Amino acid sequence: MPEMEDPKSTENPSKTITRRRFILGVIAGGAVVSAASYKILSPGGRGRGLAGGERLITLNVNGKMRRVEVMKQETLAWTLRYKLGLTGTKLGCDRAECGSCTVLIDDVPYYSCSVLTNTVRGRKVTTIEGLEAADGTLHPMQKAVVDEQGFQCAFCMTGFVMSAVGFLKKNPNPTRAEMAHGLSGNLCRCQDYTKILDAMMRGAEYMKNGVPADKLMAAGSKRRA
Ligand code: FES
Ligand code: FES
Repeated sequence: MPEMEDPKSTENPSKTITRRRFILGVIAGGAVVSAASYKILSPGGRGRGLAGGERLITLNVNGKMRRVEVMKQETLAWTLRYKLGLTGTKLGCDRAECGSCTVLIDDVPYYSCSVLTNTVRGRKVTTIEGLEAADGTLHPMQKAVVDEQGFQCAFCMTGFVMSAVGFLKKNPNPTRAEMAHGLSGNLCRCQDYTKILDAMMRGAEYMKNGVPADKLMAAGSKRRA
């Protein structure tokens, strides 16, 4: 866990990690983890290269066409994290149980640990990094998470956000019970479900009615003026 801000600290504030800043970093795309060191790896620890049985394919990820070499048996979660550097997608169980790896494929939530990369050619893949606008404005659901601070360790957070965004595309006006049902495929090890639901319901409200102006400009907003 990151250090919490000490209000009495004399350190330069720009060097102090607050809980709010930590959440902002994770929700905007897992920026706390460097992907660079993973990029040369593939399943089984093989070195990069077509000689290892990989094939060069093109994927539509977050609106960009990405050329990537993948193994036949490679999962989308692996490709996103370790080939494309999109570490906002988390790997928890790696066997379709926890939902932390959830991404949208053609706007529908999927466990990316259970989707073979070569099956998503020609489809639109969206990860947490693809939610914010081009100018850096957070997606309303991301903004709601920052405002509510509804997660503890936040490992599960991107999965919940992607599931909620996908769910709300089909059910834009859910009751709390409906939202809970819609997110039932996502687990939180910290078991902070009440606060998570608070955040997701606030996100539903922001997606429907827009983020209130005072919240848009609040401290911690990633929006650039
Ligand atoms: S890592 Fe995919 S469902 Fe747990
Ligand atoms: S907040 Fe820790 S796993 Fe969900």
